[in-house]
Amino acid sequence: GFPEHVKIVEVGPRDGLQNEKEIVPTEIKIKFIDMLSETGLSVIEATSFVSSKWVPQMADHTDVLKGIQRAPHVRYPVLTPNLQGFHDAVDAGATEVAVFGSPSESFSRKNINCSIEESMVRFEEVINSALEKHVPVRGYVSCVLGCPHEGYMDPIKVAEVARRLYELGCYEISLGDTIGVGTPGSMSKMLQSVIKEVPPRALAVHCHDTYGQALANILTALQMGVSVVDSAVAGLGGCPYAQGSSGNVSTEDVLYMLHGMGIGTGVSLPKVVEAGEFICTALHRQTNSKVAQAQSRT
Ligand code: HMG
Ligand code: MG
Repeated sequence: GFPEHVKIVEVGPRDGLQNEKEIVPTEIKIKFIDMLSETGLSVIEATSFVSSKWVPQMADHTDVLKGIQRAPHVRYPVLTPNLQGFHDAVDAGATEVAVFGSPSESFSRKNINCSIEESMVRFEEVINSALEKHVPVRGYVSCVLGCPHEGYMDPIKVAEVARRLYELGCYEISLGDTIGVGTPGSMSKMLQSVIKEVPPRALAVHCHDTYGQALANILTALQMGVSVVDSAVAGLGGCPYAQGSSGNVSTEDVLYMLHGMGIGTGVSLPKVVEAGEFICTALHRQTNSKVAQAQSRT
């Protein structure tokens, strides 16, 4: 059966913007996050404390985090690949962070410039420091349904990385189909393997929509006991180190599906559509959300 309630993790301000070539002004990012804070979302991933040489779009992380109006019921996690990022994040006021790893050796090197084993050492340092400060840590596993360099990913390897992050102390493991190549078939096989190591209540799915399979993949995950879904307003996004990766599944489309199924989210679809219109206007582009497209025609 399906869950009664699904938690949406809005990743638009981070995953959605990190791949934008033109630098989005800091005030626009802040206004965007402030609009999202009014929608009923409980988690908004705000920015990342990564190297500005690697991801120039996230160079204003501190100003963004300090500039937003924090709503009391909303959490604003940020990405922290290493201790330097973690300390910068905490100095900027972060109260929740996320580490990001992968079962693909090549993707790990391309994305965070180290091997899987080295990444685990860094994550352990970040997680230990975070837990000492009572800062919750989320763990991402990328390329769970395929890697841009290695192709097929063995579900057993995916499960092992997920288990390690969970054992290190991540409270939730987000399984990323970074390049959006999965289908309900591969999603179900991968989850069967991961669920042996990490309980479904501690799992999230993070689907990019490159091949148009994201909603079907999410539905499959919900059927298997997952009740946390990552998405980005207007379907923005893509990973700079995953060639060919397109946008995240759009928050509007996920909400439309869930609400249509009678599943509660606490999030207002019209308000999310508004935030999507705002950021698309600022980026001079059309929304990737089918729901937003349909509603703008009526
Ligand atoms: P590195 O170059 O290997 O780091 O980068 P290093 O430790 O060798 O240090 C080199 C320089 O970087 C030094 O500066 C450090 O101070 C600096 P220098 O002495 O040369 O002036 N440095 C930093 N600066 C700012 N913030 C930091 C930091 N750490 C070191 N945290 C690093 C390693 C991880 C930093 C780099 O590879 C990096 O920034 N990678 C980020 C990649 C990224 O952001 N990818 C996108 C997010 S992941 C994603 O999108 C997938 C996801 O959505 C899930 C899915 O879809 O699957 C999450
Ligand atoms: Mg992503």
